[in-house]
Amino acid sequence: MNAKLITALSSLLLVCQAFAAPAPVASGSARARESITIIPAPVEVIQNAGDYEFRSFNVFIENEKYSGNLMEMLSSKLEGATGYKVSLSSSRKADIRFVEDPRQPVDGYSLTAGKNGVTVAASTYGGHFYGFQTLLQLLPPEIKSSSAVASVEWKVPFVEIKDSPRFPWRGLMLDVSRHWFTKEEVMKYIDELAEYKFNIFHWHLTDDQGWRIQIESCPELTDRGAMRATRIGGNWWEFEHPHAGEPLDYGGFYTKEDVREVIEYAAKRNVSVMPEIDVPGHSTAALVAYPELACFNAPEFVNVGHRFYGEEENALCPGNEKTFEILDKVFREIAEMFPFEYIDIGGDECFRGFWATCPKCAKRMEEEHLSDMAQLQSYFVKRVGKIIESYGKKMIGWDEILDGGLADNATVMSWRGMDGGIRAAQAGHHVIMTPTTNCYLDLYQGEPSVEPVTYSMLRLSSCYSFEPVPEGVDPSLVLGGQGNLWAEAVPVFRHAEYMTWPRGWALSEVFWSQKDRRNWMDFVDRMEHHFQRAGEADINFSANSVYNALITVRNCEDGGLSIELGSEIDDVEIYYTVDNTNPDNHSPKYTGPFSMPRSACRLKIQSYRNGRKVGNMIYLTLDDLKARAI
Ligand code: ACM
Ligand code: ZN
Repeated sequence: MNAKLITALSSLLLVCQAFAAPAPVASGSARARESITIIPAPVEVIQNAGDYEFRSFNVFIENEKYSGNLMEMLSSKLEGATGYKVSLSSSRKADIRFVEDPRQPVDGYSLTAGKNGVTVAASTYGGHFYGFQTLLQLLPPEIKSSSAVASVEWKVPFVEIKDSPRFPWRGLMLDVSRHWFTKEEVMKYIDELAEYKFNIFHWHLTDDQGWRIQIESCPELTDRGAMRATRIGGNWWEFEHPHAGEPLDYGGFYTKEDVREVIEYAAKRNVSVMPEIDVPGHSTAALVAYPELACFNAPEFVNVGHRFYGEEENALCPGNEKTFEILDKVFREIAEMFPFEYIDIGGDECFRGFWATCPKCAKRMEEEHLSDMAQLQSYFVKRVGKIIESYGKKMIGWDEILDGGLADNATVMSWRGMDGGIRAAQAGHHVIMTPTTNCYLDLYQGEPSVEPVTYSMLRLSSCYSFEPVPEGVDPSLVLGGQGNLWAEAVPVFRHAEYMTWPRGWALSEVFWSQKDRRNWMDFVDRMEHHFQRAGEADINFSANSVYNALITVRNCEDGGLSIELGSEIDDVEIYYTVDNTNPDNHSPKYTGPFSMPRSACRLKIQSYRNGRKVGNMIYLTLDDLKARAI
């Protein structure tokens, strides 16, 4: 997403807030039993009386080819908290048995826990891995601690669980260009998402703010495109332009060895890594490396986040053969590095204003009988698609690749709403649904006055209520969905976690669980248990946003202000004050719209759930309220 669009969306923020009441959520499943709080919800859970207590972790693995990876996963997740050693057993008389069951679908499994321990049955590595994730979630939250925890009984309830995913594509995207995340942080992110049964890590590796992957045949891409001037704090879209002489001291890139390690790490967690090389737009870093690929004048510096659309070139020139020569080299190496069958070429938000007056572009259009800029972009995308295919891969792009005609066999990521996905599916293409309205994890997740600055709004309940298959679309063409974390306003990894969880948990249930297993209030209860788990694991998450009141301010005819408060969660109670005191559950309880007293100059709000203070204390001045009034 770019600065221009973000500015437009920011101005919509107040309007979005006013209409941001949670959408209705499909319900139907019974509320989970106290002790079983699995996210994403399995297909079927039957709880029986009794529980199995682990006093050792002897493990039987029927399919030898999985034993190395599975044992590594089990050791890393079970030994730290319990202090018990995980050991491989040749006998089925083990605490945990991983057995082959050819009837299980891809990534599906069954798990039974009884007096003889736990049996996971699956036909694929993914199924066994997910069975183990479910087992981990049946254990007490302290299992997530990395250091030994005394006085916990490592028990799981007797259960019979049947489970398999609704969609084959369950993705999360991390933008590592706008801000740089180390290899170790990327791995941690993958570890966290795999626990919730996501299976695709979409790695947004290049953008205007940095080129982040080594391409040996084009070393300039990282020599010149990986580093930029430092900017800290402030609103990123307002950052001062970089200038000559400034140290280029922020950034980094992944070497081929780093990439190999990340892919291997992900594979052990049943996660495929999809690289994105975003072209022809979003290419400032590439143009800094290869100025001759601009239509006229390449920018001198990698973008620091400052506003530039329409003023500086950031699109590769499709009239220049050298553009395709460089991209051929880039995609050859990308195809060699990444075993995943798909490569993402981006294709989004290409500013075509410089193309319109470029003589090389004009020549290309004449030769190829192209009548407008959309067709020129389509020419570019189709040609890049051929390069990708020549290296044995399939092309994915954001929904702009539909403009001017979609390349054969391309898969579309629908982000500007669902329409692009619907149109592509109607033309017989595979699609992945990832609309801003439900899947953009870079947006505010609640009341903005108590959140780190960003723009627009995506509440947890809007993630949870997402339905990836629109009416009238062949469901087999919808591969699944994806959450996207753009990183313009994500300067550190802890904040990447904060923005991802719990919204990522909600999306995991959308992409994995059967539609009729989704139940918002039940999810909220399970989420609270997962807060505890994440806390044990020292994973950051937003503990407050979902509880904070939804605030609508209306101008009244008499010149006063009327306040409406709401909540995403039905049983949250909201208390408020207008007398400058800090509210608690002895303050006025919100029961309906009220007027700000003429003399009052502050509104303070506090939520409670089940008698417990939840969320942040919200504090808005009269000026804040007036600025929001509709
Ligand atoms: C996008 O958000 N530009 C795909
Ligand atoms: Zn050009």
